[in-house]
Amino acid sequence: MSVDVLLGLQWGDEGKGKIVDFLAPQYNVVARFQGGPNAGHTLEFDNIKHVLHQIPSGIFRKDITNIIGNGVVLDPVILRKEIQNLGKFNLDLKSNLHISKKAQLIIPTHRLLDAANEKAKGDKKIGSTLKGIGPAYQDKYSRQGLRVGDIVSSGFQVKYKTLVQSHEAMLRFLEFEYDLPALENEFFNAIEFLSQFKLVDSEHLVNQAVIDKKSVLAEGAQGSLLDIDFGSYPFVTSSSTMAAGACTGLGIAPRNIGEVYGIFKAYCTRVGSGPFPTELDNDDGERMRKEGNEFGATTGRPRRCGWLDLPALKYTIMINGVTQLFMMKADVLNIFEEIKVCTAYRYQDGRQSDRFVGDMVEQSIEPVYKTLKGWNRSLEGISSYKDFPQELKDYVAFLEKDLGVPINIISTGPDRKETVIRDTLKVAEVN
Ligand code: GDP
Ligand code: IMO
Ligand code: MG
Repeated sequence: MSVDVLLGLQWGDEGKGKIVDFLAPQYNVVARFQGGPNAGHTLEFDNIKHVLHQIPSGIFRKDITNIIGNGVVLDPVILRKEIQNLGKFNLDLKSNLHISKKAQLIIPTHRLLDAANEKAKGDKKIGSTLKGIGPAYQDKYSRQGLRVGDIVSSGFQVKYKTLVQSHEAMLRFLEFEYDLPALENEFFNAIEFLSQFKLVDSEHLVNQAVIDKKSVLAEGAQGSLLDIDFGSYPFVTSSSTMAAGACTGLGIAPRNIGEVYGIFKAYCTRVGSGPFPTELDNDDGERMRKEGNEFGATTGRPRRCGWLDLPALKYTIMINGVTQLFMMKADVLNIFEEIKVCTAYRYQDGRQSDRFVGDMVEQSIEPVYKTLKGWNRSLEGISSYKDFPQELKDYVAFLEKDLGVPINIISTGPDRKETVIRDTLKVAEVN
């Protein structure tokens, strides 16, 4: 069987965790392929709200193999906390969680370097989650990173010390003050804790699952507009957040990719710095933030809010080869009598285009909006697409026509149950 990929099409926080948890019962394997503790994936069910950072969002479903793939940068200290927080749920993590030996380790000085780099950038800062993501990927690509598999090798301490020495030289250069011993103590305790779990060559696990005709869902983190190549560089994360990232981040051949589920909010949010053409720096933006509870799941920072941006969405659908769209947080738009959608950008010279450009950091662009009538009523309790208000169906139809991809799931609230399946998808049997 092929591997389906689920990823965010905007600037992250689209609701990936909720939907992975929703879809998980029809998969045998759920695997994270990139990012690390910068992610915050929220799941809600049975009056429980839980945020996962590195553990895949299939973890609450029975009999699913959850994999942290080789493309991930893993912080053992945060993983330990995550695992301890899951203690009350009685999950069998020692058998259900598999961690790639090739995943890179985030060590304490990566986090310090992240903070030091951001401080040095001043008002040009990226708005990083300060989890050490950039420095850890930097070490991966400069071929001096430590990997999960190293923790069981006899040379681990020496490798660790060599890496820390180079980090400390940089920290001194950046004149950044820090206190390492306490952080190291916590780190080495977490390393010991980590060694009790299944540390595997997960590419074998995933490919054997494909051969055995088991179903695999690859769970993306962040969103395509934060992709290292195609996002609004340099205001991006440091990994490949796209469908192609699932191939390198898990060891899957491109021909084994099946469905590509693209998730987007019915509007847009962004946390951190960088361009955001449809940002609403006004009352409407404030209302959206309040209604959508738009505060970061990892950092608690308020998320910037704005109307849906179709050129950006078309772009991320294109680079990912999205086969199905899932629209999240439709309920947040209940409060608006009118809903705007950006259909093109207008440049300073008057030119208009619906082509998203990666270098928009350097340009001043203004969104061109189409206004649609809002449904302006609650969606609570609606479980079937046909019962949606006509204005919501019109909104969906308008988007589908412009985007050219079917919107098959519409999410109307944070709970697992608040999920409306549009089509006779294979998800029809779930839940
Ligand atoms: P992720 O990073 O893509 O998994 O998304 P986050 O968990 O960071 O952010 C999504 C937020 O929206 C979380 O607080 C979810 O509980 C919530 N959420 C998800 N779907 C919906 C929805 O359809 N409606 C509302 N109101 N909230 C939702
Ligand atoms: P999930 O998986 C939203 C943003 C940060 C910052 C930029 C770089 O929950 O959707 P980094 O820490 O990666 O160096 O930060 O990327 N960012 C996210 N924004 N959701 C995320 O993950 C994010 N992960 C990173 O805010 O602007
Ligand atoms: Mg999130």
